[in-house]
Amino acid sequence: MKLCRRAAELAGFRGTVGFVPTMGALHAGHLSLVEQCRKTCDTVVVSIFVNPTQFNDPNDLKNYPRTEEADLKLLEAAGVDYVFAPSVEEVYPEPDTRVFDFGGLDSVMEGAHRPGHFNGVGQVVSRLFDIVKPNRAFFGEKDFQQLAIIRYMVQQLGLPIEIVGCPIVRDSDGLARSSRNMLLTPEHRQAAPHIYAVLREAVDTLRGTVTVAEAKQIIARRIDANPLLKTEYVEIAEADTLKPAETWGEKIGDLRCFVAVHAGPIRLIDNVAI
Ligand code: PAF
Repeated sequence: MKLCRRAAELAGFRGTVGFVPTMGALHAGHLSLVEQCRKTCDTVVVSIFVNPTQFNDPNDLKNYPRTEEADLKLLEAAGVDYVFAPSVEEVYPEPDTRVFDFGGLDSVMEGAHRPGHFNGVGQVVSRLFDIVKPNRAFFGEKDFQQLAIIRYMVQQLGLPIEIVGCPIVRDSDGLARSSRNMLLTPEHRQAAPHIYAVLREAVDTLRGTVTVAEAKQIIARRIDANPLLKTEYVEIAEADTLKPAETWGEKIGDLRCFVAVHAGPIRLIDNVAI
């Protein structure tokens, strides 16, 4: 495995190039993306870069976990060929002033609650795509809105990159794997699986029995019944357009339920198909 700090060192790729962009603090979710990439590509490139332009909260950026040494060991064991772990100056030699139009996909949920977040994601992902020039790139469905936005961006920019979405990886108690989980206090870690438990039960029972608006309220109330959790939003939206749904619609799987929940100072997101 070759560790590259400079874009110019990323050379000599062979065959189909697969790319897994990450912000480090790697966990089983990232490793499932790497595994999928390894299975379907000849060269596997992983980036580790905590992108400052996508953090709307300076404290969140400051506290974001950084575990490079452990990350490199995991990536080596996973059979990665190249790790790109650049400095901020390497990725942004000049400040990036580009403003993206994501066709409204960024006006709801994370976009509405984290102003500028997706513009920063667009900046870094397009910049990394430009450096790595992958044939295929892998993203997790935990950040379902991010995945939709990246697909849209690739289409808009006409990039010849296949975007592959990979299923959410959960701990055995149901908590979606996230780098932020390692920042939870033991009490909040114990409370956090309640989020998925509520979502699972809700999607099985609420569709068709109450209105969509009522379902969102019920889900928020049930999550907040745990005193260590506080819902920021619950949204039920079309899986392809991310438009908030007003009715339940026809097809199973055409809607998804999305939540953002505060567990103390840590903000967690999750989503399930309905
Ligand atoms: O999902 C993430 O970890 C980040 O948003 C990404 C895609 C690596 C861009 O910084």
